[in-house]
Amino acid sequence: MQRFSDMVVLITGGSTGIGRATALAFAREGAKLMIGDIDARAAQTVDEIRAAGGTAMFHRCDVAARAEVDALVGACVHQFGGLDAAFNNAGVLPPPAPLHAVPEHDLDRIIAVDLKGVFFCMQAQIRHFLAHGGGAIVNTASVAGIVADPNMSAYVGAKHAVVGLTRAAAIEYARRNIRVNAIAPGLVATPMTRTWLDDEGFKRAFFEHSPIGRAADPAEIAGTVLHLCSAEASFTNGALFVLDGGQTAH
Ligand SMILES: NC(=O)c1ccc[n+]([C@@H]2O[C@H](COP(=O)([O-])OP(=O)(O)OC[C@H]3O[C@@H](n4cnc5c(N)ncnc54)[C@H](O)[C@@H]3O)[C@@H](O)[C@H]2O)c1
Repeated sequence: MQRFSDMVVLITGGSTGIGRATALAFAREGAKLMIGDIDARAAQTVDEIRAAGGTAMFHRCDVAARAEVDALVGACVHQFGGLDAAFNNAGVLPPPAPLHAVPEHDLDRIIAVDLKGVFFCMQAQIRHFLAHGGGAIVNTASVAGIVADPNMSAYVGAKHAVVGLTRAAAIEYARRNIRVNAIAPGLVATPMTRTWLDDEGFKRAFFEHSPIGRAADPAEIAGTVLHLCSAEASFTNGALFVLDGGQTAH
C-alpha cells in the first residue's frame, strides 16, 4: 500500500523546479496528479509520470486568472472524481530592482501570480473541501516570507502575504477537516534561480554565508510537502516549514 494511493493531488507550477519534483514524488507514492501550469512543458512531467506507470494530467492554467483556476479544480474533480490535497506552488520572480524603481507592471504581475494566484487556488480548493469532507493545502512561500533580501521588495511582500494567508485559512477551516500549511524554501536550484547560480561571484558569497554551503535540489523540498499532505501531519495546521539549510537560523 503506497502512502497516497487513492488520493488526488493538484499541483500548480509543475512544469519545472519544485513543483515538478513534488509531482514526481507524489506519483511514486501512488497519488493521481492534476498539474496546472501556464507552461506547456508540464506535459513532459505528465509523460514522465505515465511512463513510470503513474497517473497524471496537465491542464493549462494561469493562476492569476480566477476563472482558469476554477476550471482547473473543476477539471481535476471531473477527471479523477475528487480532490484530496493541493500544492499551490506556481510563482514568478521579477527582475531585481530597488523598491523606488520597481515598474508597476512587475509589481502587478508578482501580486497577481504569487499572491492572488494562491488566494484563488485556496478559494476553489476550499469550496470543494467544504462540500466533500476536507483536505490538505500546502502553499509555497519562501524565506522571503520571513526575512527580506534587497531588490526583491514586491516578491518579499507577496511571500510574507502568503504566510499570512496560510494562517488565516488555517484558523478559519480547522474544524472543517481542512489543514493549511506553508513551506519556506531557501535557495533551490531551479530555472527561477539559474541566473544566480550561474554567477560564480553570487554563488561564492551566498554559499560562504549559508550554514549548509549549497543550494537545495528540488527533490529535497518535495518530501516535506508530501509529509504535510499525509495523515502523519493530521495535527499540523497553520504551520510554516522552513527548508533553508539553516540560512535564517543566523
Ligand atoms: N528556487 C528557489 O530558490 C525558491 C525559493 C523559495 C521559494 N520558491 C518558490 O517556489 C515556487 C516554485 O519555484 P521554482 O523555484 O520551482 O521555479 P520554477 O520557475 O522552476 O517554477 C515555477 C513554476 O510556476 C509556473 N508558473 C509561473 N507563472 C505561472 C502562472 N501565472 N500560472 C501557472 N503557473 C505558473 C512555471 O511555469 C513553473 O512551472 C515559486 O512559488 C517560488 O517563488 C523558490
